[in-house]
Amino acid sequence: MANKRIDKPTGTETVGHEWDGIEELNTPLPRWWLWTFYACIVFAIGYTIAYPAWPMVNSATKGMLGWTSHEQLAKEMAKADESKGAIRAALAKIPIERLPEDSELMRAAVAGGRAAFKVNCVQCHGAGAAGSKGYPNLNDDDWLWGGDLKAITYTLEHGVRQPDGEDTRFSMMPAFGADGILTSAQVSQVADHVLSLSGKAKDNAAGAQIFADNCAVCHGPNGKGMREFGAPNLTDPIWLYGGSREDVIATVTNSRYGVMPAWKDRLDPVTIKMLAAYVHSLGGGEDFVEVAEDPATEVDEQS
Ligand code: HEC
Ligand code: HEC
Repeated sequence: MANKRIDKPTGTETVGHEWDGIEELNTPLPRWWLWTFYACIVFAIGYTIAYPAWPMVNSATKGMLGWTSHEQLAKEMAKADESKGAIRAALAKIPIERLPEDSELMRAAVAGGRAAFKVNCVQCHGAGAAGSKGYPNLNDDDWLWGGDLKAITYTLEHGVRQPDGEDTRFSMMPAFGADGILTSAQVSQVADHVLSLSGKAKDNAAGAQIFADNCAVCHGPNGKGMREFGAPNLTDPIWLYGGSREDVIATVTNSRYGVMPAWKDRLDPVTIKMLAAYVHSLGGGEDFVEVAEDPATEVDEQS
């Protein structure tokens, strides 16, 4: 352009434009910037050759390296499976009651059990395993059938009151009112006795006698419950079917029959171990050895 000239003070050529006497210098780009820019172009071209990049009609260029995100995912999954496989193999080998000795394996089992619980158990026991009426809370140390790892595993494997489970946990409280074993007045008296065990009603001699004659075989002479029969402790404030007078009268009149699925045919043994570890970890888990030493809370022999 005609107006281009060398700017005296800087020695740089101008671009040739002029606005009200103001001109623009044609300062060259810094060399480092330029080379970085060229390097980026070279890298970008190289990248689109090496990796999948340019969109085509139905797919995209595949890239010389043959890399796919799909394959990378598959490889990572395989690696994760491999490490999981090692944990599963170790779990398959260790007897459940020895699991607490290996704190790392125990932690892995609890994590796996938590995941399996969400799939298989929450519909009955609730997301936090807190249970609801008829479905026991698994967070507390109040156990129907036993709270050490072996007892929990047995409960999970064989379920409770499964119609064709030979080894299922089983017992049946009679329907004292409905079947005419007790009159409704007697049901009322024994209900008051049950409530008196947790301080919710006054003692009554008649109720205590009825309890001793009809209930102590399963719930124990003091009403503390017996795990051989899955008979709940009636002296604590924890109720499976409700602790109001009406609830207790309904239980004694009609009985209850809680059913829990047997999981041994639906889940593999390792998953069952993981679930047992998870349930055991929730807060009420009992030490296997201690339980065996204390005859008052002895667990079912066959478990
Ligand atoms: C269909 C409902 C249902 C599902 C699903 C279910 N449970 Fe249960 N579970 C019950 C009931 C009901 C009982 C109480 C049985 C009784 O009255 O003795 C029970 C009892 C238990 C006990 C014994 C508690 C004790 O105090 O001894 C454990 C442990 C247990 N469930 C764990 C699990 C786990 C783990 C799963 C998932 C694999 C699961 N349950 C799935 C209904 C269910
Ligand atoms: C054959 C054993 C057996 C006998 C006898 C028996 N029970 Fe039970 N009782 C059980 C079992 C098992 C349960 C738990 C049922 C379930 O989990 O579905 C239970 C549950 C109860 C509950 C509910 C507790 C709760 O936490 O909600 C009460 C109350 C109760 N029994 C009172 C009595 C009284 C009172 C008698 C005597 C009149 C009696 N039982 C006799 C086995 C027995």
